[in-house]
Amino acid sequence: MSENTPLVLRERHGRVGLLRLNNPKAYNALSPALLRELMDGLAAWDADEAVGAIVITGTERVFAAGADIKAMSQASAVDMLLSGYVDLFDRLRQVHKPVIAAVAGWALGGGFELAMACDIIVAAENARFGQPEINLGVIPGAGGTQRLTRTVGKYLAMEMVLNDRRLTAEEAARFGLVNRVVPTEQYLDEALKLAQAIAERAPVAVRLGKEAVNYALESTLSAGLAYERRLFYLLFATEDQREGMDAFLNKRSPAWKGR
Ligand code: CAA
Repeated sequence: MSENTPLVLRERHGRVGLLRLNNPKAYNALSPALLRELMDGLAAWDADEAVGAIVITGTERVFAAGADIKAMSQASAVDMLLSGYVDLFDRLRQVHKPVIAAVAGWALGGGFELAMACDIIVAAENARFGQPEINLGVIPGAGGTQRLTRTVGKYLAMEMVLNDRRLTAEEAARFGLVNRVVPTEQYLDEALKLAQAIAERAPVAVRLGKEAVNYALESTLSAGLAYERRLFYLLFATEDQREGMDAFLNKRSPAWKGR
């Protein structure tokens, strides 16, 4: 691969912005350069009014095998701190539009953490998920211990983090880690279809719905309910609320303005 080959490919499919991790020789290892391109791509689609939802994918064999172990192997604590590597993952939290991870093959370490930082996960039958950092003498550092535990609970998270238990796509679905499992040859089409369906909905409501669901992971129930109520009232200030309710009452399709 030449030095100028992008590490993340950008394609637009209808109202969906697709980002393909493109370092398959290194199992899409998440080097700082690749992560930076990914986060730049996310920010670009997020700012693009023609895009209503975003999909991140790898190849049919690998989503991403985690941090670039070669690049990290000799790093000091201060090198890691100053590199801002893990901080790059935080940029995903600033994306307002829904982000779907379309996962086939390996999603390990930072690759799994990247998928868990997305809003929805579509898994191919051949997807495999794990946090193998313990084999390297470290632990997950990009949200793995936190997002995994909040999703699957303490006991399975312990086994995955402490003993590298890996999950098949079916197991991941059973434990609520992925939205759906689809035949491997269809995984990207399914993810794009789902993203397109969401992208055609009322954009401000989608944005605030995402914000409200994410707030549930950060707050007490009382604070979350109060927050949700404020966002609900706020939507009555949009033209799309008038349009959606008028369309329902007149048995026609709504034409969303995103205003
Ligand atoms: N970093 C750098 N190179 C990697 C890599 C990684 N995370 N994962 C795979 N590779 C490279 C291998 O070194 C190998 O390179 P060469 O061909 O030059 O030898 C190539 O990709 C293929 O790997 P394998 O020969 O091991 O292929 P396999 O099919 O037998 O196994 C695999 C595939 C299961 C993904 C295995 O490579 C593996 O377990 N990779 C490491 C996964 C891992 O430990 N991830 C966690 C990293 S730490 C982290 O992620 C922390 C964080 O972000 C905060």
